Amino acid sequence: MWKQIQARFGLIAFLFSAVQAVTDSIGNNLPIFSPLRPPAVPLAVKSPYTSAWSSTGGSLNSASPVFWTSTPIGWEGIITVDGTSYEYLGNGFQALPKLPKYRLALPQTVTYDSQYSNFTFIAGPITICASFFSPVIPQDTCRSSMPLSYLTTTVNSNDNQTHDVQFYSNINAAWLGAGGNGEFTWDLLKNGAPMNRTEIIDQKDNASLYSWIYEPSTQVKLGESTDFPQWGNFTYTTKSMGASNFSCESGYSLDLHYKSLDGKGLKNNNDIAYRGSGTREAIFAFTHDFYNVSEAQVRYTIGSIQDPVMKYMYRGGTANLRPWWSKCYGDIFAMIAYHWDDYDAVRAAACDFETQLRQDTYRFFENNTVIQHGLNSSSFYSNGPATGGPDEPLVFQKEISSDGNINTVDVLYPTTPFFLYANPELLKYTLQPLYEFQEAGFYPHGYSMHDLGSAFPNATGHIAGDDEYMPVEESGNFILMSYAYYKFSNNVAWLQSHYTLLKKFAQYLIEFSLVPAAQLSTDDFSGRLTNQTNLAIKGIVALQAMNAIARVAENADDAAYFSSTAQSYYSQWETMAVDPSSRHTILAYQWRSSWGLLYNIYFDKLLNLGIVNQSIYTMQSDWYASVSQVFGVPLDSRHHYTKSDWQIWAAATCNTSTRALMVNAVAYWLNHTSSGLPFTDLYEVIDMGGSPEVPDHISFKARPVVGGHYALLALGRSGQGSSAQAGDTTGSLFPKNGTGALNSKTKITGFERRMV
Ligand SMILES: *[C@@H]1O[C@H](CO)[C@@H](O)[C@H](O)[C@H]1NC(C)=O
Ligand SMILES: *[C@@H]1O[C@H](CO)[C@@H](O)[C@H](O)[C@H]1NC(C)=O
Ligand SMILES: *[C@@H]1O[C@H](CO)[C@@H](O)[C@H](O)[C@H]1NC(C)=O
Ligand SMILES: *[C@@H]1O[C@H](CO)[C@@H](O)[C@H](O)[C@H]1NC(C)=O
Ligand SMILES: *[C@@H]1O[C@H](CO)[C@@H](O)[C@H](O)[C@H]1NC(C)=O
Ligand SMILES: *[C@@H]1O[C@H](CO)[C@@H](O)[C@H](O)[C@H]1NC(C)=O
Ligand SMILES: *[C@@H]1O[C@H](CO)[C@@H](O)[C@H](O)[C@H]1NC(C)=O
Ligand SMILES: *[C@@H]1O[C@H](CO)[C@@H](O)[C@H](O)[C@H]1NC(C)=O
Ligand SMILES: *[C@@H]1O[C@H](CO)[C@@H](O)[C@H](O)[C@H]1NC(C)=O
Ligand SMILES: *[C@@H]1O[C@H](CO)[C@@H](O)[C@H](O)[C@H]1NC(C)=O
Ligand SMILES: *[C@@H]1O[C@H](CO)[C@@H](O)[C@H](O)[C@H]1NC(C)=O
Ligand SMILES: *[C@@H]1O[C@H](CO)[C@@H](O)[C@H](O)[C@H]1NC(C)=O
Repeated sequence: MWKQIQARFGLIAFLFSAVQAVTDSIGNNLPIFSPLRPPAVPLAVKSPYTSAWSSTGGSLNSASPVFWTSTPIGWEGIITVDGTSYEYLGNGFQALPKLPKYRLALPQTVTYDSQYSNFTFIAGPITICASFFSPVIPQDTCRSSMPLSYLTTTVNSNDNQTHDVQFYSNINAAWLGAGGNGEFTWDLLKNGAPMNRTEIIDQKDNASLYSWIYEPSTQVKLGESTDFPQWGNFTYTTKSMGASNFSCESGYSLDLHYKSLDGKGLKNNNDIAYRGSGTREAIFAFTHDFYNVSEAQVRYTIGSIQDPVMKYMYRGGTANLRPWWSKCYGDIFAMIAYHWDDYDAVRAAACDFETQLRQDTYRFFENNTVIQHGLNSSSFYSNGPATGGPDEPLVFQKEISSDGNINTVDVLYPTTPFFLYANPELLKYTLQPLYEFQEAGFYPHGYSMHDLGSAFPNATGHIAGDDEYMPVEESGNFILMSYAYYKFSNNVAWLQSHYTLLKKFAQYLIEFSLVPAAQLSTDDFSGRLTNQTNLAIKGIVALQAMNAIARVAENADDAAYFSSTAQSYYSQWETMAVDPSSRHTILAYQWRSSWGLLYNIYFDKLLNLGIVNQSIYTMQSDWYASVSQVFGVPLDSRHHYTKSDWQIWAAATCNTSTRALMVNAVAYWLNHTSSGLPFTDLYEVIDMGGSPEVPDHISFKARPVVGGHYALLALGRSGQGSSAQAGDTTGSLFPKNGTGALNSKTKITGFERRMV
């Protein structure tokens, strides 16, 4: 078996290397990617609105950076060395007539981890490193709520000579309001105060912070247009950084681009008297000149800032919520200044997270098993559980690309392993608003609500009960996530305080989960189906969790009832769920020889609930290995697409060799897919591993569900890793040093409840 699989991998790899392009669309050599070539690399990813990516179909300087939707957004970078200009970021200059002193910087390497994406280039006698840094510090809600990222560009001489080096960089207005097609107003600010237009920049002042700030002239507060925010400010900020000459200018893109090539620097002019698009669009630029240097560095802060950030309906009515960072840091300029000054400290914090993540991942790969931490044994967590209160943030998650719903229960559910691994309190902060809405009696049904609002950022729930109908799915998810948070936090009071609502959902599951009627599961793009095996087992595992929850709530009668119901349902489920061949579970009770990923048994294992028989784990583990395709195991027997999150969930329920096979398949797909989209979680396991379009021509991009790639790491934290089957250690395909689940940037925004 393993030989066959290896042979097949070898053959496919050979075919790919024969056809894979080594140059991009403009003839640039593709850089070397490490640890591997993902479809797209994050540049500035901190919120649903600060979300810039570089598709790896090309290089950083062969195409424009894109918003997560794939819409181009202007972000340029040029280094001029001894009079010759090298473009390293964006492609705005390639539209100009070829100039003798203009060149493309030559891409060399791309390296990335959970925090950084670094691109190196050769530019004549120097090396350029553009280091994009979006800190992921899950323990720190203040820092996590800041929607800003860093770009640090460093040049180093390669020939032991000193050089005259000019850094030029600009942004355009496309980051706000439907790709920048509207009217904007902008300003240049010095330490947060508008600059007098005739004021000359003092070249000796290396302490002041200069910010370009622009906003749509007509704001639609809390409005979106093609997923771009229609309100708020966008900023690009820097200091002189010790440059001999430092200048700022806004103007027509064509004018400024030409000017930046003539070596004379910018005019320190803020031209506010024009509008337009294309070559006449407004751009906002900085230049830093260094003379006779062998190395130099410039840093920028970038991001989209909204205040208020959310509309929220709760017991007290409807409120516009202010961002959590405003409580931590003050107004937007205080926040920008904090972000700028925080650079060294946040680098250290980011390094701690990355080091822990690497350690956990490497240890897992090293011994081909999941490491054991034991609950709460790690200093990684914040100090002890906290009970809910007004001083805690609420977290709202946008269901990016699939529909823009808020805190969709079946999107939080696949994301849960990330929260449990990185900071379980984040899970509570996302569940909290769902609890508040439903405990206030705003939702009319007896099962869990699907989401907190159909169009981010308006979290106004579903008073009419007209949300997407996934009753068994969401009720099971809600119970399981709540119990998981309790298990990882030991927050007894919190779980007890929500017992009434949880019991209501459990009663729904008792009635409807064993033989689920025709309905959607979370994989709604696959359509409705009656008697879904995987949906039924979710309900049963949730009832078993309810037994434990009732015990925490000190209700022994309920506990006994939930326990006996779960046991009885489980044995009935086994007789209906297993195919007559005894080789796999079926997709739906009435559909012999169908099959699918039975990922919902993951929580049985994660939370040590002990309801699912080991024979089911063994059977599924063997079955997956027998149906795996080049890019992994299909989601079910109806299609040849899969979900990366569910594959890793399922891998966590398997023996070591099947785990290795599935984790490797996802890593292999990542390195070879034809998709250039920010990590799509839905892809074809055959052909070129492309991203299929689901109904309404949507392809999935940068969705929060990639938090599910932490399923194995969360197992390690729960102390349940040892129940991996022993024996089979032939999983030698394991990539060393973690090519799998490393680069997952979850969009987190923290908010406080405050009226505006
Ligand atoms: C990714 O694919 C490239 C090109 O086929 C290959 O050279 C490289 O070794 C692969 N990386 C990993 C980590 O498998
Ligand atoms: C990226 O560059 C920064 C320096 O700006 C460095 O500290 C970091 O380790 C690098 N990370 C990767 C993944 O290359
Ligand atoms: C630069 O200087 C170092 C040490 O002085 C030497 O080893 C190296 O070869 C020099 N490099 C070039 C490109 O001249
Ligand atoms: C702008 O600055 C100039 C030079 O510092 C000064 O003469 C002028 O009064 C200032 N104008 C305003 C409106 O502050
Ligand atoms: C949110 O509600 C406001 C009205 O309060 C509306 O103007 C805005 O368009 C809504 N946003 C979305 C994304 O629907
Ligand atoms: C944008 O920033 C300006 C200050 O430059 C401020 O007056 C304005 O209220 C901000 N707009 C929004 C929507 O936050
Ligand atoms: C900034 O200016 C101060 C005083 O003029 C000087 O001591 C310091 O070295 C300068 N910093 C940089 C980065 O040039
Ligand atoms: C610095 O910039 C100013 C304004 O553009 C220019 O007049 C001056 O010559 C520049 N200095 C150097 C050393 O290039
Ligand atoms: C750079 O150094 C050269 C010689 O080493 C000198 O002639 C020139 O004036 C210096 N340029 C600046 C701007 O300091
Ligand atoms: C992995 O196995 C080696 C050899 O048995 C052992 O020394 C090491 O401690 C193990 N690592 C972990 C994380 O369990
Ligand atoms: C669903 O399963 C039940 C129990 O096995 C069966 O009675 C029923 O006919 C099935 N429904 C469909 C539509 O096949
Ligand atoms: C894996 O990473 C560790 C720590 O950085 C390093 O010591 C080891 O050599 C690496 N192993 C491989 C196979 O790259």
